[in-house]
Amino acid sequence: MTVGRRSCGRQLQAALFRVLCLIPTGLPVRSVDMQRTTDNITIRQGDTAVIRCYVDDKVSKVAWLNRSNIIFAGEDKWSLDPRVDLITKGQLEYSLRIQKVDVFDEGPYTCSIQTKQQPKTSQVYLIVQVPASIYKVSEDITVNEGSNVTLSCLANGRPDPSITWRLLNPSAEPLEGEEYLDISGILRTQAGRYECKASNDVSNPDVKYVNVVVNYPPYIKDAKSSETPVGRLGILQCDASAVPKPEFEWYRDDKRLTNSAGISIQILGSRTLLVVSNVTEDDYGNYTCVASNRLGIHNASLFLYKLNIPTIKYPTRGPGTGRDISGSACLTQSLWIFLASVTCLFFKC
Ligand SMILES: *[C@@H]1O[C@H](CO)[C@@H](O)[C@H](O)[C@H]1NC(C)=O
Ligand SMILES: *[C@@H]1O[C@H](CO)[C@@H](O)[C@H](O)[C@H]1NC(C)=O
Ligand SMILES: *[C@@H]1O[C@H](CO)[C@@H](O)[C@H](O)[C@H]1NC(C)=O
Ligand SMILES: *[C@@H]1O[C@H](CO)[C@@H](O)[C@H](O)[C@H]1NC(C)=O
Ligand SMILES: *[C@@H]1O[C@H](CO)[C@@H](O)[C@H](O)[C@H]1NC(C)=O
Ligand SMILES: *[C@@H]1O[C@H](CO)[C@@H](O)[C@H](O)[C@H]1NC(C)=O
Repeated sequence: MTVGRRSCGRQLQAALFRVLCLIPTGLPVRSVDMQRTTDNITIRQGDTAVIRCYVDDKVSKVAWLNRSNIIFAGEDKWSLDPRVDLITKGQLEYSLRIQKVDVFDEGPYTCSIQTKQQPKTSQVYLIVQVPASIYKVSEDITVNEGSNVTLSCLANGRPDPSITWRLLNPSAEPLEGEEYLDISGILRTQAGRYECKASNDVSNPDVKYVNVVVNYPPYIKDAKSSETPVGRLGILQCDASAVPKPEFEWYRDDKRLTNSAGISIQILGSRTLLVVSNVTEDDYGNYTCVASNRLGIHNASLFLYKLNIPTIKYPTRGPGTGRDISGSACLTQSLWIFLASVTCLFFKC
């Protein structure tokens, strides 16, 4: 995140500038007043920290301390840590460099200076930041509708990252939850890809995903009856909504239908078609499509109506609702229905 890095850099510059101006502070060595506000240097884990300390030629002794451990006494390195060294420029600079900074390096660092007259110290507090990182997230899950679901997303980082959740549906609004996202009585509309984002402004947020599948029983949302003349292709269609995908069966009154000469049952995902290749008088009547999965079963009634040529009557709709259509319009209409049916068959409308 460039904004974070820039402000971090500015902070560092400011801190270094303040260190420069603070020397000398006139405090005695080994009695550092911890109440005194110290300057902070903020650095990202893995980067190189340079803690500046400037001296003048009247100085007789210098040392770097980390809490109460001596890191350097003059040019002598007391610390065994290979990541630590000094930056010196002639007699005037006595800065401490720590490469590949880690979280255990966080803390106060003291540059202790002894002149002929007076000992002085300058202290800097090193703050180590760690980008947010998700180390544990829920596995993808499949649950039944109505279940209580808890998704987890655990992250570390310094400062502590904040965790936010979204369901990646078109609205993708933020959800209420942090490490744990509780969904009580989950609905089918709450199925989908959940995004967990951990951010602490040190670097780009860390993002992980959990896929949630919600099972529910079939529901036939659309059943298309058909009006077909004798000798033509008759198609009945059922569309179901179900997770997992439904199984389908077709019935004529109470008799189960199977693929046979003249009749074919087609299943395309959550849609099924009953195709009668050459409709006869016997085929007109009442059909039922049944959709089932392990959570339940649902059925719908459909009708194969007779379409008369050249005069169309709708005998199954009772008296008074019949309509007459002139010969050419009727031909056009039946041709259209035939084409639509075939198109339907091939393009899974
Ligand atoms: C240094 O950081 C601490 C928190 O870690 C804060 O309380 C303090 O005010 C900071 N000091 C300065 C000089 O920024
Ligand atoms: C500072 O001290 C801590 C423990 O006191 C130690 O773990 C860390 O390595 C030290 N850091 C440096 C740069 O010496
Ligand atoms: C789901 O949680 C609610 C409380 O939030 C509780 O009343 C209900 O019994 C729980 N249902 C199941 C199936 O655990
Ligand atoms: C439909 O069936 C009738 C009577 O069985 C037959 O005469 C006709 O040729 C068939 N049409 C097609 C397209 O198979
Ligand atoms: C069609 O069949 C279904 C199921 O067998 C039945 O419930 C319905 O009443 C029937 N409709 C007609 C008009 O016969
Ligand atoms: C359709 O559903 C009704 C009520 O749920 C049931 O009584 C009937 O037997 C079902 N029909 C078929 C063919 O499964």
